[in-house]
Amino acid sequence: MGVIHVTDRAGQRHTLEAIEGWRVMEIIRDWGLPIEGLCGGACECATCHVFVDEQWLDKLYPPTEEEEDQLDTVVTKPNSRLSCQIIWTPELDGLEVTLAPTGN
Ligand code: FES
Repeated sequence: MGVIHVTDRAGQRHTLEAIEGWRVMEIIRDWGLPIEGLCGGACECATCHVFVDEQWLDKLYPPTEEEEDQLDTVVTKPNSRLSCQIIWTPELDGLEVTLAPTGN
């Protein structure tokens, strides 16, 4: 067991218990925070867009071409990722992300 820290669109930081093997999008959604994840994690919607804290970027698998293509459809920052493409493992205990604005 471990946690992720999620800052919502109002700037409030939430510490959520994480489950190994779950997508970060699923963890955020399961705890009731407002992330859409419309395609259910199929990398087809970009509604699970988050900004990953800089210190964690290198610890993630790099985005696939499919993820890059979806990120091209929204307004991104250098630390943008799709949270459905990040599978939580204990190495990611303490991961910090911020929800991207709705529609982005
Ligand atoms: S949930 Fe659709 S791309 Fe992540």
